[in-house]
Amino acid sequence: INRIGIFTSGGDAPGMNAAIRAAVRTALYNGKKVTGIYHGYQGMIENTMFEMNSRSVSSIIQKGGTILKTARCMEFRTPEGRKTAYENLVNAGVDALVAIGGDGTFTGAEVFSKEYDIPVMCIPGTIDNDLNGTDLTIGYDTANNTVIDAIDKIRDTAASHNRLFFIEVMGRDSGCIALNAGVAGGAEAILLPEKETAIDELIDMLEHAADRNKSSMIVIVAEGDKNGGAKDVARRVNEKFDYYDTKVSILGHLQRGGAPSSADRVLATRMGYAAVNELLKGNTRATIGIRGSEIVTTPLEEALSKKELKLNEDLVEIAKIMAL
Ligand code: F6P
Repeated sequence: INRIGIFTSGGDAPGMNAAIRAAVRTALYNGKKVTGIYHGYQGMIENTMFEMNSRSVSSIIQKGGTILKTARCMEFRTPEGRKTAYENLVNAGVDALVAIGGDGTFTGAEVFSKEYDIPVMCIPGTIDNDLNGTDLTIGYDTANNTVIDAIDKIRDTAASHNRLFFIEVMGRDSGCIALNAGVAGGAEAILLPEKETAIDELIDMLEHAADRNKSSMIVIVAEGDKNGGAKDVARRVNEKFDYYDTKVSILGHLQRGGAPSSADRVLATRMGYAAVNELLKGNTRATIGIRGSEIVTTPLEEALSKKELKLNEDLVEIAKIMAL
């Protein structure tokens, strides 16, 4: 390997910059050249690449977003798109890749690397924490902290007015943020995509809570909850349960931004370092992960096929008891 291409793809996540920085500096330390690729797979096709040096990644460890920009690229799903991408990489002298992103990024990396036999190592970056092969993804801790901050603030006003709030958090398929932030924010109920909660069941929970003289209530609704999001849930609950004035708050994309937490910066740094070292050892078509405190790798094929349940089942039970 002479030159490593590095890119971010899919939804951005706080800590991606820290991972870029670590990968760039580890590659340079090992005498390799580095090419930055803007906008993920789109940039490979459009040939928006540039030479990176140690200074290209100065003062980015504390920044949210990704300095390499990101995109979701439909063209890369076609053989023609991938052919153009490969030709551009060859012209730029790129002979290995570090890809930072979520499952769409992993899928692209797997297909591309099989088709053109280019070594690739993935780093899990998404606030959703929904990737296999790792306990934690980069950005998840920061997003949890952002959501907890929002819940705390909403609680202040909810308690002052005796209101019931439905707060929608991100997680199209994953309830990880909802569960963790819900527990940390003392939510009265948490609706998760992985566990169906019928509206009547939720109303029962709220009625019991009202009987216990709660002055305010917070229900966390994961975006992917099967009842259809916070607005729908609030409307349907209100049809039968109207003890409280009800409000809906959809946190949206603010959950993706902000300075990465200390935990995310360190995780991203360890993962960026490991990704380059694994490539240099000859490992390919795999993702970096963390299990407990150990950095591990998992073949992409396995990470993409085996569905791990990332929700902590104990925490689901604990959340119900804490709402008493
Ligand atoms: O980053 C993950 C995620 O936030 C999902 O939870 C959400 O559904 C999706 O990305 C939205 O991303 P975008 O608006 O960029 O398509």
